Amino acid sequence: MENTPLNKKVIDEKIKELRIADTGKASIREIVALVNLVEEATGDKFIRMEMGVPGLPPSQIGVDAEIDALRKGVAAIYPMVDGIKPLKNEAARFVKNFLNIGVSPAGCIPSVGSMQGTFAAFMAAANAVKGKDTTLFIDPGFPVQKQQMQVLDQKFETFDVFNFRGKKLREKLESFLSKGNICTIVYSNPNNPTWICFTDEELKIIGDLANKYDVIVMEDLAYFGMDFRKNMANPGEPPFQPSVANYTDNYILFISSSKIFSYAGQRIGLMVISDTLYKRDYPALQQRFGGTDFGSTITLRLLYALSSGTSHSAQWALAAMLKAANDGEIDFVEGVKEYGEKAKVMKRLFVENGFKIVYENDLGQPIADGFYFTLAYPGMTGHELVANLLYYGISAIALDNTGSNQEGIRACVSFVQREQFGDLEERLKLFHENFSSVN
Ligand SMILES: Cc1ncc(COP(=O)(O)O)c(C=O)c1O
Repeated sequence: MENTPLNKKVIDEKIKELRIADTGKASIREIVALVNLVEEATGDKFIRMEMGVPGLPPSQIGVDAEIDALRKGVAAIYPMVDGIKPLKNEAARFVKNFLNIGVSPAGCIPSVGSMQGTFAAFMAAANAVKGKDTTLFIDPGFPVQKQQMQVLDQKFETFDVFNFRGKKLREKLESFLSKGNICTIVYSNPNNPTWICFTDEELKIIGDLANKYDVIVMEDLAYFGMDFRKNMANPGEPPFQPSVANYTDNYILFISSSKIFSYAGQRIGLMVISDTLYKRDYPALQQRFGGTDFGSTITLRLLYALSSGTSHSAQWALAAMLKAANDGEIDFVEGVKEYGEKAKVMKRLFVENGFKIVYENDLGQPIADGFYFTLAYPGMTGHELVANLLYYGISAIALDNTGSNQEGIRACVSFVQREQFGDLEERLKLFHENFSSVN
């Protein structure tokens, strides 16, 4: 196609310069680097859908609390490795208010982003019981967690949940769990990248099986409350964020500040470990890391070794943001609804131009509009779609980067500006004109 909106020659040159062997297979960071180079060289702006940057201003309450804490001198003082008391208390309140789950403040532990939380939790879980050393990912999922597995040199198994929703999930999970080597089950809910949301029926299946096979469930709530089909923003009132914690005590929840409070830059999240799991003694874990119970091993052995706690001022920021949500002073869901509204428009533009939503429903109900959605174009593999869209100034990653077996791409709405919708529509029209005749 010669009539692409972006200069094909420049894009091809930059692909060579970055030594990207196959653009369709490129990682998120490779696509980011490529698009940055092309934008710099051409002055053209891409519709950037490759990376999950929040794209909204940070919570002012957090910023003010952090500045205040810095002025008071916290920068000079090591924070407690398991977190400052006000944060732990507000976190436990938040879990009660918005999940309707009771947990002690001791189990609410700050980490340097959810990323550090999962890193430490993966280490603990894979060393807790001899012979149970393999993580099971319910995919599609967040690619960096697989990279964590690689860095830790840990084993994992995975399956694409596309064909195993609802009751079918039980048999599929049991086919892995019955082998006896699985230590933990990991998934995000709402799901990055598909935005499917597990139903209570599915969460109960996961929880029941975690009890039956004694595995730890790691529930990644990076997009807490962002199933915009329900309003989960009122403290202490249903509906609550659905969670596996209703069905098992073998859980660790990960609550990130990055998306709900647009606080990604300060790298702070929370691990929430159930009281039962926190207090549990695992002899193999004690032998491996020399600690006592599960919770103390995470804090005093693993987080201590990794970073000796989480930025002191960011902890004050998160404590203040959680308190404001708990007290009903801010509606953290309202603050991020913009993502859902943009997704609605963007999905329409893609669908009007021949694209299909790949993961399109939750057991018959259309998926919510949120931070991500998935797209396919007839007759094109996911890799071809990534590569072809680049020439039309649209960047994304292929779904197979996320453990999906479906052909398509992940679209992230957060970085796309509303002012770009006109460009997006024009580029998609041209793309469809050029390719609908080919297929
Ligand atoms: C599913 C999921 N988990 C975790 C994270 C990372 O969270 P944090 O910024 O708190 O490390 C992200 C960020 O995109 C995510 O999508």
